[in-house]
Amino acid sequence: MKKFDGVAGTLFVPLWARIAVSKKFPEYFTDEKALALEPYLPKDAEKGASEYSNLASVARYYNMDRMVSAFAGQRGACNVVYLGAGLETAFDRLSGRLPKVFWTQVDLPEVIAARREIFGNRPKEITIAGDMRDMAWAGQIDASIPTMLVISGVFQYFHEEEVIAFIDNCKTFFPGAQMIFDATSALGLRYTNWFIKRTGNESAVMHFGVDDSATFAEKCGCVLLEERTFFPDALRILRSKLKFVTRLSMKTAERRKMVLILRLKLADA
Ligand SMILES: C[S@@+](CC[C@H](N)C(=O)[O-])C[C@H]1O[C@@H](n2cnc3c(N)ncnc32)[C@H](O)[C@@H]1O
Repeated sequence: MKKFDGVAGTLFVPLWARIAVSKKFPEYFTDEKALALEPYLPKDAEKGASEYSNLASVARYYNMDRMVSAFAGQRGACNVVYLGAGLETAFDRLSGRLPKVFWTQVDLPEVIAARREIFGNRPKEITIAGDMRDMAWAGQIDASIPTMLVISGVFQYFHEEEVIAFIDNCKTFFPGAQMIFDATSALGLRYTNWFIKRTGNESAVMHFGVDDSATFAEKCGCVLLEERTFFPDALRILRSKLKFVTRLSMKTAERRKMVLILRLKLADA
C-alpha cells in the first residue's frame, strides 16, 4: 500500500491504537474490524506509541460510540456523518445495532481511495472524497432527518478560526443538528505535539485546543449539550492492569481536563 504523508499519514496511528488495545484490554474495547486490518498497516505504524497514547486514542471511540448510540437509539432514520473519517471502523462496530442510520464517511481523496481499497463497496455506507471545509459533502446528505456530525482526531490540525468558520457552515446546512468532537487543552497540546514528533510526522503538529467548553460553545454560537473527559471508565475497568505511568497520566489528564469530548447543538445560522 502507498505511503501517506502529513495529516493523511496520521490515519494509521488510531488504527494501530484500536488493534493494540483490542489485544491487550478487550474488557474495555474490542474492534474486530481493526484487528482484521492489521495486515494493511505499515511496518512502523506503532512507532512512538505507548500504552497511554493507545488508550487516549481508543477512549475517543469508546466515548463517541456511546454518544452516537444514544443519539441514534432515540431516533428513527437519521444520519451519522464521520468527517475526517480516516480508517474509522465505527460503521463495523455500530451499524448492526443501529439499522436505521445512514452512515457517511468523508475524508481527503487519497484517504477515501484507501478506504475503498481496504473496505470494498459497502451498500449501507456512503463515502465522499473531498476537503470537509469546502462543504461540497453537505449537499449530498439529506438534512431533513436528524443528523449527528462526528469529528474525531481532526480539529486539532486546524486553527481555531477555521474550526469556528467550519461550525458556522455546518449550521447553515444542518440547523439543529448535533456535533461531537474531541479537543485537547493547551497543556494537552504541548504533550501531544511532543508525542507526534516522536512518531516522526512533524507535519501533523496540532494547533487547536479547548480549555473551557462553555466558552468555546458560546464563541461558536452553539449550545453545549455535554462535555466528557476521556478516562473515567478506562480507569474503573482497567485499574491495576494499567502500567503505573499510564494510570498517572490518565489521572492527570482527568484532573486537568486535558482531553475532552464536546457535544454541541448547532443553533440555527
Ligand atoms: C488522526 S486521523 C483521524 C481519523 C479518524 N477520525 C479516527 O478517529 O480514526 C485525521 C484524519 O483527518 C483527515 N483530514 C484532515 N484534514 C481534512 C480535511 N480538510 N478534510 C477531510 N479530511 C481531513 C485526515 O486525512 C485523516 O484521515
